[in-house]
Amino acid sequence: MGRIFDALEKRKKDTALGGGMLSAKRTDEIEKDKNPPVLLSQDGCDPKLVTLTAPDSFDAELFKVLRAQILFPQSGTRKKSIMVTSAFPGEGKTFVAANLGVSIASGINEHVLLVDGDFRRPNLHKMLGYSNTAGLHEYLTDKKDLADLIIRTRLDKLSFLPAGSPSHNPSELLASNEMKGFLEEVRDRYDDRLIIIDAAPVQATAEASVLSNYVEGVILVVRSQKAPREMVLRTVEALGRNKILGVIFNGYSKSLKQYGKYYGNYYR
Ligand SMILES: Nc1ncnc2c1ncn2[C@@H]1O[C@H](COP(=O)(O)OP(=O)(O)O)[C@@H](O)[C@H]1O
Ligand SMILES: [Mg+2]
Repeated sequence: MGRIFDALEKRKKDTALGGGMLSAKRTDEIEKDKNPPVLLSQDGCDPKLVTLTAPDSFDAELFKVLRAQILFPQSGTRKKSIMVTSAFPGEGKTFVAANLGVSIASGINEHVLLVDGDFRRPNLHKMLGYSNTAGLHEYLTDKKDLADLIIRTRLDKLSFLPAGSPSHNPSELLASNEMKGFLEEVRDRYDDRLIIIDAAPVQATAEASVLSNYVEGVILVVRSQKAPREMVLRTVEALGRNKILGVIFNGYSKSLKQYGKYYGNYYR
């Protein structure tokens, strides 16, 4: 975790010098970058980004377990593009996608590109402490260069693509050939990167089930006492059983807050 704290220290110094908040860098420029952008600090991000704000917490440990399961799957090969979804809104997709991304990028070897693919409720930027600048929407509609849209974070192995401007036709956009092309381009151009997409919920939108055809694996978040069993089963069918890498049972309960700062129980 020393690396993160080094980054945080450096961030403080850069802020004092008036460093800009946002900057886009090509992935292949990372190594050359002597002055990476100021981002992803404990000051700016959501405190629930526990893998950064409370790296020694129980929750952060659970994300390490999840990280190991993804990086070293018991069967089959490691998946390079993973979508995080759920049956309904508010089950913890963004919480899981962001924390998983930080957890993996904090490891020794893996680079991660976090993508906000929830055009209806884009929240990943808030978790990470960014504003929602141009991103996936601009790539899909205006054919903007990915290198100009992807944000490098201070966590040097983590990059981020925000959702971008609001979309009037999210289902069509995310199910489009352009979206398929996006994943192909990212895979070819940034082949050292694990892509984690924070997607829309399956039962409330059409896009997640289509998107699951374009990614290699899906993580399904199920929030305790939120999604009825039959809806979870329907969601599994809509996504395709074979695509699902695992189900995260998010047992988070607000009442647990009385016991401490951040709580979330995950069981696989
Ligand atoms: N395990 C958890 N521990 C603490 N807070 C959580 C947990 N899971 C979700 N939350 C909080 O619940 C709210 C909804 O979660 P979010 O990830 O935004 O859901 P979704 O992206 O599925 O709509 C957010 O405020 C999030 O921070
Ligand atoms: Mg969300």
